[in-house]
Amino acid sequence: MRAVTWQGKKDVSVEQVPDPVIEQPTDAIIRVTTTNICGSDLHLYEPLAAFMDKGDVLGHETMGIVEEVGSQCGDLRVGDRVSIPFQISCGHCWMCEHELYTQCETTQVRDQGSGAALFGFSKLYGQVPGGQAEFLRVPHAQFTHIKLPDGPADDRFAYLSDILPTAWQGVAYADVPEGGTLVVLGLGPIGDFACRIAQHLGHRVIGVDLVTDRLARATARGIEVIDLTALNDVSLGDAIRGMTDGRGPDSVLDAVGMEAHGSPVTTVVQKAAGLLPSSIAAPIMEHAGVDRLGALHSAIDVVRRGGTISLSGVYGGMADPMPMMTMFDKQIQLRMGQCNVKRWIDDIMPLLGDDDPLGCDTFATHRLPLEGAPDAYRAFQEKADGHIKVQLKP
Ligand SMILES: NC(=O)c1ccc[n+]([C@@H]2O[C@H](COP(=O)([O-])OP(=O)(O)OC[C@H]3O[C@@H](n4cnc5c(N)ncnc54)[C@H](O)[C@@H]3O)[C@@H](O)[C@H]2O)c1
Ligand SMILES: [Zn+2]
Ligand SMILES: [Zn+2]
Repeated sequence: MRAVTWQGKKDVSVEQVPDPVIEQPTDAIIRVTTTNICGSDLHLYEPLAAFMDKGDVLGHETMGIVEEVGSQCGDLRVGDRVSIPFQISCGHCWMCEHELYTQCETTQVRDQGSGAALFGFSKLYGQVPGGQAEFLRVPHAQFTHIKLPDGPADDRFAYLSDILPTAWQGVAYADVPEGGTLVVLGLGPIGDFACRIAQHLGHRVIGVDLVTDRLARATARGIEVIDLTALNDVSLGDAIRGMTDGRGPDSVLDAVGMEAHGSPVTTVVQKAAGLLPSSIAAPIMEHAGVDRLGALHSAIDVVRRGGTISLSGVYGGMADPMPMMTMFDKQIQLRMGQCNVKRWIDDIMPLLGDDDPLGCDTFATHRLPLEGAPDAYRAFQEKADGHIKVQLKP
């Protein structure tokens, strides 16, 4: 089959790879109909390159049709239309029983000290082949799937595998009080959906970014926005306090993560580590290099005293300096983590009707064949030509 493979730093290509086969009775094979490129793929594209091997199949936002099932796949049937959560979880361990699916004790990648295995996500998360391909092998398929109704086009359900529940969890963890205000840092796909969800739930929402077409998309849906490039000498914190009674917002959702703009020192460390062989670069990246904390530090400044910060953006460093005195003194509550996808599906499904209140049908900016992936990765990383959400159609 054809698959999008990682070939090196900022280098992906479509290659012919062996078709996946059923290896365990709980495996299923999915014929992929839509698979998206995600901001998380950008971490693999560049800063986390040390954890990738040439030829790794990328992708963790997959939907399609069940092609084949093992003998223990529960009620999953050939021909079912499904979305595949980005994390692989068993559904019956202690963590899964507590709906902490990204901590699944059956699939945890213990040799790396990581949580549940993820599709297409480097050695840190089990090096499981991903879904930017014609077919995907789904381990623990008896639980790792979401059944979808027939009818609406793929667009409606294409974001259930990751970004819609991730944005939902980000808003839930932000714990915005009744009548409260949420600031969303970053208006990429996650931040954009988070704004839409928080607005739908009745909160006041202020979105922050520096990319014109992303700001425009939020504005078009009636979201208040701040353009970081237009602040001149005013700090973001001061600008937002000026809009929120001088106090600051109740909650801040960081939908940026370690790809933040504005931390030149760590960019240099990342670039330097990128030039080293993986065996040396990996520990450097793990312990020192990936730390780009620009967005997190502004979240700490922006949030009101006694408020909550929710991190959807992924951070990867082990030696990140944090302003503990400010965090303690401001009495900040901090919640974070990979999204426990299936935890939120019952909340989201009612919003995927024909009235499409979250705008899923028109969310994608680009729909391309797999062969479009190399250019699309580049354009999405550079935030060029309006690339906000790219779907690949194998
Ligand atoms: N928690 C999870 O389960 C989960 C799931 C999917 C993605 N993510 C993470 O969410 C983050 C966002 O993903 P995405 O697909 O929206 O990516 P993205 O890279 O397209 O979006 C990030 C946005 O942040 C903006 N930005 C950069 N620096 C900023 C700053 N200092 N202040 C405000 N905005 C800034 C960028 O211009 C961009 O629009 C990534 O870190 C991704 O890995 C987490
Ligand atoms: Zn994703
Ligand atoms: Zn489990």
